[in-house]
Amino acid sequence: MRTETGQVINLADYRPTDFVLERVDLTFELDPTETKVEARLIFHRREDADPAAPLVLAGEDLVLVSLLFDQMEMEPGRYHVSPDSLTINDLPKSEPFEITITTMINPEANTQLMGLYRSNGVYCTQCEAEGFRRITYFPDRPDVLSVYTVNIIADKAANPLLLSNGNFLGGAGYGEGKHFAAWFDPHPKPSYLFALVAGDLGVVEDTFTTLSGREVALKIYVEHGKEPNAAYAMDALKRSMKWDEEVFGREYDLDIFMIVAVSDFNFGAMENKGLNIFNDKYILADPETATDQDYANIEAIVAHEYFHNWTGNRITCRDWFQLCLKEGLTVYRDHEFSADQRSRAVKRIAEVRHLRSEQFAEDAGPLAHPVRPAAYKEINNFYTTTVYEKGSEVTRMIATILGADLFKKGLDLYFERHDGQAATVEDFVQCFADVSGRDFTQFSLWYNQSGTPQISVETAFDAAAKTFTVNLGQSIPPTPGQPVKQPMHIPLKFALLGADGAGLAPTTITGGDVSEDVLHLTLQNQSFTFSGIAEQPVLSLNRGFSAPVTLHFSQSPEALSLIARHENDLFSRWQALTDMALPVLTAAAKAAGNGSEIVPDAVLKQTLLTVAADDSLEPAFRAQALTIPSEMDIARAIGSDIDPDAVHRARQTILGDIALTGADTFATIYQSMQDKGAFSPDAASAGKRALKNAALSYLAHASKSPTAAAQAFADADNMTDLSQALSVLAQHFPDAEETQAALSSFESRFNGNPLVMDKWFSIQAGIPGEKALARITALMAGPHFNAGNPNRVRALIGSFAFSNPTGFHRPDGEGYRFLAGEILFHDKRNPQLAARLLTSMRSWRMLEKNRAAHAKAALETISTADGLSNDVRDIVDRILE
Ligand code: PHE
Ligand code: ZN
Repeated sequence: MRTETGQVINLADYRPTDFVLERVDLTFELDPTETKVEARLIFHRREDADPAAPLVLAGEDLVLVSLLFDQMEMEPGRYHVSPDSLTINDLPKSEPFEITITTMINPEANTQLMGLYRSNGVYCTQCEAEGFRRITYFPDRPDVLSVYTVNIIADKAANPLLLSNGNFLGGAGYGEGKHFAAWFDPHPKPSYLFALVAGDLGVVEDTFTTLSGREVALKIYVEHGKEPNAAYAMDALKRSMKWDEEVFGREYDLDIFMIVAVSDFNFGAMENKGLNIFNDKYILADPETATDQDYANIEAIVAHEYFHNWTGNRITCRDWFQLCLKEGLTVYRDHEFSADQRSRAVKRIAEVRHLRSEQFAEDAGPLAHPVRPAAYKEINNFYTTTVYEKGSEVTRMIATILGADLFKKGLDLYFERHDGQAATVEDFVQCFADVSGRDFTQFSLWYNQSGTPQISVETAFDAAAKTFTVNLGQSIPPTPGQPVKQPMHIPLKFALLGADGAGLAPTTITGGDVSEDVLHLTLQNQSFTFSGIAEQPVLSLNRGFSAPVTLHFSQSPEALSLIARHENDLFSRWQALTDMALPVLTAAAKAAGNGSEIVPDAVLKQTLLTVAADDSLEPAFRAQALTIPSEMDIARAIGSDIDPDAVHRARQTILGDIALTGADTFATIYQSMQDKGAFSPDAASAGKRALKNAALSYLAHASKSPTAAAQAFADADNMTDLSQALSVLAQHFPDAEETQAALSSFESRFNGNPLVMDKWFSIQAGIPGEKALARITALMAGPHFNAGNPNRVRALIGSFAFSNPTGFHRPDGEGYRFLAGEILFHDKRNPQLAARLLTSMRSWRMLEKNRAAHAKAALETISTADGLSNDVRDIVDRILE
């Protein structure tokens, strides 16, 4: 295992390799504990490289069995092995040469799930970012592209299935009880896209005919018996393939596309060339076991990994600093896909909620980093919401600035110019500059400056002159390593609304670049003046969330209410409701904190109830409107001296007030949203369920009785309704008999399905209050928990630390001490999992001082422990800094 080295890798130090890797030939002799890997690598020295430079290959947890140079055993004096490398000297100046490396690895002992490991008896690999070096010594970096042939030899009875990237070459028997298969991937790829799977799995098969008429075999491999549960994923795959052809002109490029679902996986899924490997949570679904959210996640992740075939695989990253080049762009693509398949506005609202609660929080704390970082100690810790989600927003801003046509041209140029290459963010941006003639220099700061821009907005209306002036100011708070920032190019979509809600059209606009409905804020302070405005307008700014910024704009409740009722951008309507709710909630939290009375707000309540009851709006939107800002959102808005208990009480009081006034409305909604037909996971049906269940939650608030939720639990004929009813019971009435009965009924019904039991875990982990920790430890000791499976750990311990503010942040600090113990435990087996759990502590400095002191002490226990992994060391150091 890699333990702390403290070494910093800098973008500025990037250098190409001295050697080109022409071909890779791998032979695996699979064995649970002693797998033999033979790697035949053909290299030649680059013309401009130092003729004396040695070949340095990365390696980790490997036993070197033999080493050949051009088929001959290498003299011991010629090479050197260290715990993380193999260095070979005296290599030819220009002619190609062959290095053959045989290593021994132990898949069964691989608990960190990087490299070759076993999941439920299936051999599988995970190589991004630096897992391939745990298979053999290799130039394990993304700018080394090569063509791979893979031979797999394994016991035939236990592993009827032998898979790798590319196209199947052939297979045959191989000695007693064994067989082998050979695969060839004609597309040059970096080692992080390598994959191998061997085992005994069931399969779902289909085909897809591409744009140019080629037939591609589609296969999804799952545990035997689970085949029917892969049907939705297969459907999502075919829709993704078609969409990528239609919208981006991207066609698939091999004869076969495979997905394998495994139960032990550190992330969501992995885009290995032609052989995606998935966390089974993001493949398996049926109405009885999957929620609408699960269906939406499956659709999005299947699409995301498929889209990587062009954005990530055909064009990959020069180095790991460029991670957003593939991830930000691919998230943008999967967002657009889901928007096209579902409701665009509702999808956008969900994206922005997620961005604010995760990415804005990251950007405001000790782990803040640019979309393209300039330095890292552990690359695993940079698979972040900043790289992914903010990276996607940066791509979206390019589209907003250029408009759809030029954006498409720029992307086409990118695909054409960089196909087969390992590219950089600069290469990407240059394509848009080239097709548009625009200068993207200032815009590129979005890649390099961390922190969420704060935009101040003030407006003035001059009735006599018929002008409306918007004064904008931008500032970006200091973040680690970046005390001072430069002004950025911020594209803000806008509309001016008249008193009746209709759009007002100015005759001229001065003060800066304005293209159609976008104000381009480029200076630190900038005034835009709109002429020909006869009445006081209401400004709707940052429509559709065109820029990932925070606006500081005190609009009157009347103005917000006008936007909430009349904007034709639904996102902006939802935003106006949020802008009304947040000040009410923060004021309530402050009141709760100092013991004064919490005063609900009548305008907010009425506006919300009006939207909730408005049948002309789609149910999914109304459900979003009814979901007021979370406790975490409120805490972030307050910013310091947070008392999570006060925030909780405040929010509950406001919700209770809305529930009481709206009881009739919610009862009507609850009845009218009942879907009597057969279950369908489509977006419209899911939206009805979302609205119905939002109403159920308010009804529980209003009635203070578990009866309705218990009835809903009994009546549920799908997992969305069942788990929502259980969640309402657990959140509102944790000690009620009805709740205990529902929990045990759920348990006895689903105890054979660990993925469903994860819902049971996370619902219980989220129950607020001081008893939460005792509940967690009891569940950990129970029969369904498995500390070796990342999904279980995230469902129980992750839900507690990330999503139960009152339980985790209990005032005596026990929550933090518990987490510290868990971090140290998991760090020994799976450092990536441990490091990710630890990020739940990143906002500790925002807490009131008593809790902050406990949090700090717990972090110091971690920091001073022996033998920390590089992963946890990096996070704990940054959080404490
Ligand atoms: N590249 C994967 C994705 O975003 C994520 C991933 C990273 C998976 C590292 C595993 C390991 O699609
Ligand atoms: Zn990705």
